[in-house]
Amino acid sequence: MSTSEFVPKPVVRPRRLRAAEPIRSMVRETQLSPSDFIYPLFVTHEKQVRREIPSMPGQFQLSIDNLVEEVKSVRRLGIPAVILFGIPPYKDAEGSNSFQEDGIIQQAVRAVKDAEPDLWVITDVCFCEYTDHGHCGPLKNGTVDNDATLELLAKQVVSHAQAGADMVAPSGMMDGMVRAIRSALDETGFTGVGILSYAVKYASAFYGPFREAADSAPQFGDRRSYQMDPANAREALREAELDVEEGADMLMVKPALSYLDVIRRVREATHLPLAAYNVSGEYAMIKAAAANGWIDEQRIVMEVLTSIKRAGADVILTYFAKDAAKLLQQ
Ligand code: PBG
Repeated sequence: MSTSEFVPKPVVRPRRLRAAEPIRSMVRETQLSPSDFIYPLFVTHEKQVRREIPSMPGQFQLSIDNLVEEVKSVRRLGIPAVILFGIPPYKDAEGSNSFQEDGIIQQAVRAVKDAEPDLWVITDVCFCEYTDHGHCGPLKNGTVDNDATLELLAKQVVSHAQAGADMVAPSGMMDGMVRAIRSALDETGFTGVGILSYAVKYASAFYGPFREAADSAPQFGDRRSYQMDPANAREALREAELDVEEGADMLMVKPALSYLDVIRRVREATHLPLAAYNVSGEYAMIKAAAANGWIDEQRIVMEVLTSIKRAGADVILTYFAKDAAKLLQQ
């Protein structure tokens, strides 16, 4: 006796919608586009430098001349925006290069806007690359002095706006940073300069390669007294709400992959456009595995970026932006 007569036939057959690419493409719920991406770039004060970052193969520290070439190719690929990180010629206790008129970022913004006026230029606003101690603001009693940092942040964003930045992205997780920045920009006439707030930024080990790239590792301790505890999600909603009230134009969750649940929850709790940062450690892990032949890099990249968008991000900051834009053009 055959058992097959006792096995019920399916009533519903979802496989019909997966049978071939035309139907799959019609029912696909999440689409990636080059316009979803913000490409992070590291600019150094040196001359004629294009130095590959060892832990981030394919990413470079660029001098301004090379940065200008790079943004042209970014624009050609249909990527609308870059976010700039600076490697200054000197560091000091308050990170003063970050707010000089001829600071590295200010020079870079001018050069990029000059070469590619239609590229949306976002500046990362922080102090860790500029302070000799590597923390995200001036210190008092061994920790970052929140309110003194706000005063310096105001100086930094105004100087970025004067250089021509379209949007500023404060990443230091200081209390009240969005309000301080909004009021500094408004009072100096830069009402049109937007704020992409790193509203929900965790104290994450996934930033390791970035700290090598930007030379921004803390010289003592860690960032747990200002960045969020990875265990907390409710607190993420509180941070997001505060930044909405303080006047952010867009919010960010960072990192992305271990925090897809947080992206989803912030997406559902607020109405602002939401960005997610696919950070350096997430990039490095894929690059390392691919270099060993253990994974199919192109497929993994598209799967990862799709997952971030599916979770609820409208835009993705990613070192894969150019690679993904090329794949999407094929
Ligand atoms: C702070 C900043 C960091 C990153 C972006 N902005 C590092 C940190 O908080 O230590 C990390 C980005 C990445 O890992 O790709 N200026």
